[in-house]
Amino acid sequence: MTRYKRQDPELTRRKFINAAMGGAAAVGGISLISTLGAAKPAFRLTPQLAPPLAGDIIVHSDPSRYGEPVKVSDLSEQLVRAWPAFKDEGGKLVVRDQDPTSVLAVYRFPKGQIVEPTNLEATIDGEIVAYGDRCTHAGCNVEDNKQQPGLMNCPCHSGQYDPKQGCKVIGGPPPHPLPQLPIKLEGEQLVVTGFFMSVPYGYSKEEDWKRYTEQVQEALS
Ligand code: FES
Repeated sequence: MTRYKRQDPELTRRKFINAAMGGAAAVGGISLISTLGAAKPAFRLTPQLAPPLAGDIIVHSDPSRYGEPVKVSDLSEQLVRAWPAFKDEGGKLVVRDQDPTSVLAVYRFPKGQIVEPTNLEATIDGEIVAYGDRCTHAGCNVEDNKQQPGLMNCPCHSGQYDPKQGCKVIGGPPPHPLPQLPIKLEGEQLVVTGFFMSVPYGYSKEEDWKRYTEQVQEALS
């Protein structure tokens, strides 16, 4: 059996959104309706299906701390897996955990270790950096490389990434780096400042991702 099935990589972002059309109304909250273009069907984008957005707070995904805001003191050279979350009208944090492409990997490295092509302005003090955590090859979750600390390994087909260098691909079949997510510190919380800065899993071209982000912005306005 191929390990492609591990994270159900066939369930692409677009299929995921389309699959959610029928059930999204039951989720509650606001519904953002847009279109994918004349040839594609309309889709319904609920807040929990939305990608990480400016203003979102980064929260733990581990079941033992699920939904707790990630603090600087939680971070190290070991991967912390996280989700974006937003505050609803009552001030309660709601996790955007319905699109697997929104899952994040967050690191803190000693000053000076994070270098280009990482976008340093999108890190916190050049020490804390966040990326999308779905491998750009077939969508598996990427993990710490246990043999080479500080690097990342994809368990499905041995893709290798360097989170200190913009998560560039340093081995294996992934076609693109993991996408960096711009972040800043507000008080003790890590806050998202924009969309993924390059193509996440599920998008082969920059222009497709850009078009999607424009549609999301339009739906939100
Ligand atoms: S899914 Fe194939 S290397 Fe990551």
